Amino acid sequence: MSTPSRPWWKTAVFYQIYPRSFADANGDGIGDLGGIRARLDHLSWLGVDALWLSPVYPSPMADFGYDVAEYCDVDPVFGTLADLDGLVADAHGRGIRVILDWVPNHTSDRHRWFVESRGSRTNRRRNWYYWRDPAPDGGPPNNWMAAFPLGTPAWTFDERTGQYYLHSFLPGQPDLDWSNPEVVAAMHGVLHFWLERGIDGFRVDVVHALGKDPSLPDDPPPWAGIPHTAFHHHPSTHAILRDLRRLVDSYPGDRMLVGEVWSLLERQTVLYYGHGDELHLAFDLPAAVRTPWEAAAWRGYTRRLIAEIEDVGGWPTWVLSNHDTPRHRTRFGSEARARAAAVLLLTLPGAPFLYAGEELGLEDAVIAPQRKLDPGGRDGCRAPIPWSTEPGHGWGDEPWLPLPPAAAERNVETLHADAGSILNLYRRLLAARRASPALRLGPWRPLDTPPGTLGFERASGGDRRVVFVNFAAGEVACSGGNMIIQLTSDGSGEGSPYGGVLAPEQAVVLRPTAA
Ligand code: NOJ
Ligand code: CA
Repeated sequence: MSTPSRPWWKTAVFYQIYPRSFADANGDGIGDLGGIRARLDHLSWLGVDALWLSPVYPSPMADFGYDVAEYCDVDPVFGTLADLDGLVADAHGRGIRVILDWVPNHTSDRHRWFVESRGSRTNRRRNWYYWRDPAPDGGPPNNWMAAFPLGTPAWTFDERTGQYYLHSFLPGQPDLDWSNPEVVAAMHGVLHFWLERGIDGFRVDVVHALGKDPSLPDDPPPWAGIPHTAFHHHPSTHAILRDLRRLVDSYPGDRMLVGEVWSLLERQTVLYYGHGDELHLAFDLPAAVRTPWEAAAWRGYTRRLIAEIEDVGGWPTWVLSNHDTPRHRTRFGSEARARAAAVLLLTLPGAPFLYAGEELGLEDAVIAPQRKLDPGGRDGCRAPIPWSTEPGHGWGDEPWLPLPPAAAERNVETLHADAGSILNLYRRLLAARRASPALRLGPWRPLDTPPGTLGFERASGGDRRVVFVNFAAGEVACSGGNMIIQLTSDGSGEGSPYGGVLAPEQAVVLRPTAA
């Protein structure tokens, strides 16, 4: 097992699986745990170190699993607890860790805690959630807005007891009150349940929203009208996280927490690393998935995030795509750019998180109005993964969402067989990273490169790599000294001496000639 100074998650490449869309073992058109188990060989071949599963808990699926009705079980659509244990055992057998999505800010309105809580004003679980009297005009208690549907209040009136309850997301996702020690104890119990079963860690949903000002003050202008969680922050969150960190660290094997910090305010993400006593890792959202395909933007973003996180002795994360946002292949507009972005993602210092399907260069699916399902409009990036060349591409006649564009060419079977494919580029990148101490852990030194490009060096002991990314649509001269091309985003010239010119929208990884 790894030592505390170099825990596994510092050098891991994480791979996010959206279980409904990954692989379907029982033919009902919805991905499941059996499907994931059946594809572990593929993930091993690709070379990922850890899987993050989006929620698989019992859920009415109003937010496709982010509305949890029971934290210590598996929804029948995905399988059983035994299937999950089996998946974890199979993954561990291949040296792949498994982290679960944990949704502590809110439950489903069908969770028994909420069903009890809404039963009466005197119910013993009433104060597990935020219940408040109407404002004097009968409206919601404050002006907070929900994230879904956009433009709706974060409060729903409950006729039975004449009060409103708070939901930062859908009305079917009531917020838990983490200032209540009973809530804390119950949710700690959930973590113990999974840690004892051998889960390696958790991706913590909207982690920055957990602590709340008990007076729930109105949002001031200019924020009023914007979904409240997009700029929520309250100091009480940090004590909650320190307790979670102690709990997780009390288990052997470097269990870990990676939190979703999604904030429109600047310099927020770094706060949730605490002083090495809060999250092990945090996502820097939305910046990570909104930085456009421009050299200046990526230079600025990488330098800022690395400096901020280094400042607290933390380790950054890098994400290009996830289940909440259009895929970067779609955002950036071409496969060449998606390939170059992959080189960047997998060579920056920190923990890279891949979103299943990006290694196939998938674009978002186009969803006809009658097939739209998600209240947040995020169906396109959740399209099923095409596995094979046959009709249905592994999904039978009717997958729960339409397949992404060009599935006849962009499927695992076809791209696996094509040495020049983006899938094989990802595989080479993961192998290059694994074999290079510099790429895994080496400090980062930004290089002064021509406009339109970004460059940096990573070095560790005698190991050194230089990475250049050309964002421009034309060739750019970019001197790199006496180096060998280890890897290029378009596959050209690998193994040859570097000639000092980057092709349009090309990224390269260079190694010293002697290495
Ligand atoms: C963030 C998750 O990534 C998203 O999918 C979900 O809708 C919200 N949190 C609410 O849980
Ligand atoms: Ca299924």
